[in-house]
Amino acid sequence: MIVFKKEQDLRTYLSQQRALGKRIGFVPTMGALHAGHRSLIDRSVQPETVTVCSIFVNPTQFNDKSDYDKYPATPDADLKLLLEARCDVAFMPDAAEMYPQGFAEVRTYDFGYLDSILEGAHRPGHFRGVGQIVSRLLEMVQPDILFMGQKDYQQCMVVKKLLGMMGREQQIQLVICDTVREEDGLAMSSRNVRLTEPQRALAASIYQCLVSIQGKQNSDHFSLVRKECLDLLKKKGLDAEYVSLADATDLTLLEDYEPSKKMVALIAASIGGVRLIDNLFLNP
Ligand code: PAF
Repeated sequence: MIVFKKEQDLRTYLSQQRALGKRIGFVPTMGALHAGHRSLIDRSVQPETVTVCSIFVNPTQFNDKSDYDKYPATPDADLKLLLEARCDVAFMPDAAEMYPQGFAEVRTYDFGYLDSILEGAHRPGHFRGVGQIVSRLLEMVQPDILFMGQKDYQQCMVVKKLLGMMGREQQIQLVICDTVREEDGLAMSSRNVRLTEPQRALAASIYQCLVSIQGKQNSDHFSLVRKECLDLLKKKGLDAEYVSLADATDLTLLEDYEPSKKMVALIAASIGGVRLIDNLFLNP
């Protein structure tokens, strides 16, 4: 595996690989890698593919400074995981490399409706920052395939829209990979390491709620199930930001179950000051 810190070195290497007929698979991350990231790398690694994993904790997507300050950094363990996974390239730039002219100089994208709901509504500016960094990374890496995790489903939709806005939807295939879960259902997240053992166990109630929203789609009204979920989360000591139902194709929020649509349930809740998100498709 080769570790690059500079954009120019990465670009030179990747253009050589492209000239040799290799495809580029790309997994953008903020490090603190876990089994969820590993599953994305595993999807990409193939004989004729050069897999690039970027590790950069992007300051512009954190609306909460203390979340940024506390974001876990485990570079040695990350490199070990990437080596074991046979990743070809780790790209680990610093902020000066990613934002050489300062944060304000990188083009921003307006995601409209997608930025006005759920994560967009609760984390003002978050998707603007995601758009800034992902567009920068895509210009550098120019991947054929981009792998992202379903846990951040709204982010996946934002990136899909970004690919269109960049005019790259034909060249770059976005592959959304299943969420990897702990045994009790808790979605793998870099933020989980900040939970104490009791908090970690209680956090599994987010997944329990998603499963109950899924299980009751043919018997109850969503408003009732939602109330039960909010009560359960509260009882478990979680501070819920939203328990929502949406059309999975465009994230239009739904008041009630609509079986003719592909539906996704989404939850954001905090415990011990750690903010967690998760989602589940309700029907095929
Ligand atoms: O999902 C993440 O880890 C980040 O939002 C991403 C896509 C790497 C952009 O910083």
